[in-house]
Amino acid sequence: MENKSKSGLEGINVADTRLSEVDGAAGRLIVAGSAIEDLAGRVEFAQVVGRLLQIHGVEVRLGEGRLWAHERISRLGDALDRSDGMDALRAALAHQNAQLPALGGPRAEVEFDEVLRAIGATATYVAAWSRRQAGQPPLAPSAARGHAEDYLYLTRGEAPDSAVRALDAYLVTIVDHGMNASTFAARVAASTGTDLYSALVAGVGTLKGPLHGGAPGPVLDMLDQIKRPEAAEAWLTEALDAGRRIMGMGHRIYRVRDPRAAVLERALGELERGPSRPRLQLARAVEQQAERLLAARHPDRPLKANVEFYTAVLLEAVGLPRRAFTPTFAVGRVAGWCAHVLEQRSTGRLIRPEARYVGDRPQG
Ligand code: COA
Repeated sequence: MENKSKSGLEGINVADTRLSEVDGAAGRLIVAGSAIEDLAGRVEFAQVVGRLLQIHGVEVRLGEGRLWAHERISRLGDALDRSDGMDALRAALAHQNAQLPALGGPRAEVEFDEVLRAIGATATYVAAWSRRQAGQPPLAPSAARGHAEDYLYLTRGEAPDSAVRALDAYLVTIVDHGMNASTFAARVAASTGTDLYSALVAGVGTLKGPLHGGAPGPVLDMLDQIKRPEAAEAWLTEALDAGRRIMGMGHRIYRVRDPRAAVLERALGELERGPSRPRLQLARAVEQQAERLLAARHPDRPLKANVEFYTAVLLEAVGLPRRAFTPTFAVGRVAGWCAHVLEQRSTGRLIRPEARYVGDRPQG
């Protein structure tokens, strides 16, 4: 029988990792040895990064990274002028002069310095881009603030406690997630022995796509268009009849509801000035209707809410502008990319799969 290509690489392990595990059948996510429910909103982002990298003292060094990047903003040329935040982040990260790492060697302290700086810098760049979009100058970071707090302050100009807690829970929720597309892209780049920033640029470019990290903005657009729970069924039916995908629904791995959706709902519930009740009711109604309609159309393929669905509601509730949603995903996920780059460097070989040739062959 002909060996057909698996175009999505589903079901194929391409690495051994100690960073995270996604159990799609049970709907469980383990990050650095803990269930995601025990981390998000319970352990601060910087500490989770420390667990992923297996080092201490992360918080201060993230702060130093934010400050370092702030001082470089004036040297980035027009990188932060892009109207799309992911384009801006890609350009800003591409601007760094990174050293080529030693392959396969023990992890040097200098590598940790570099990744923590990159994680800190990502928050500064995204916040500075977001303010520039609003016609405002960048604000100065402070290493004395936590990462989520400073990011929120740098973006909004204020950082209320309750919103900081919810944003921190979000950043932890999305910090790492198995061999997702952007992590894979970063690992493929790292496997060639290239530098950290080249691998991160690969991650940013991959996360930008609407099938990966680009969904939360469109989820909110959908809620805005639907407006009332009673209108959900008709709107969704029309979208599906037109062959459109419902953003925030479905997942490559999960066959049950994405556990991160529940974690984000919990964080939303803990927000003091949370989303208005109607907004959350609308989101839940749309989710229910979408799940029902998708089940009728795809009885063999469970399509349920993924992390992006409640990401949209949470990031709106903490006061971030819609255009900053996907870049904010990168502010958290960059830590996962960095941990995977280090893991790939220390244990990995060149990732180089094959393609089945189906084109013409020379005659004779
Ligand atoms: N809305 C409508 N139909 C969907 C759907 C969605 N959100 N997700 C999957 N489907 C349908 C596909 O059209 C396909 O139908 P077909 O067999 O009739 O062609 C079937 O379900 C299987 O989809 P497939 O593309 O094989 O799934 P995948 O594993 O490649 O895709 C996603 C996973 C996440 C890319 C997909 O569910 C999707 O596009 N979701 C919307 C975007 C989104 O929320 N992304 C964030 C992910 S965290």
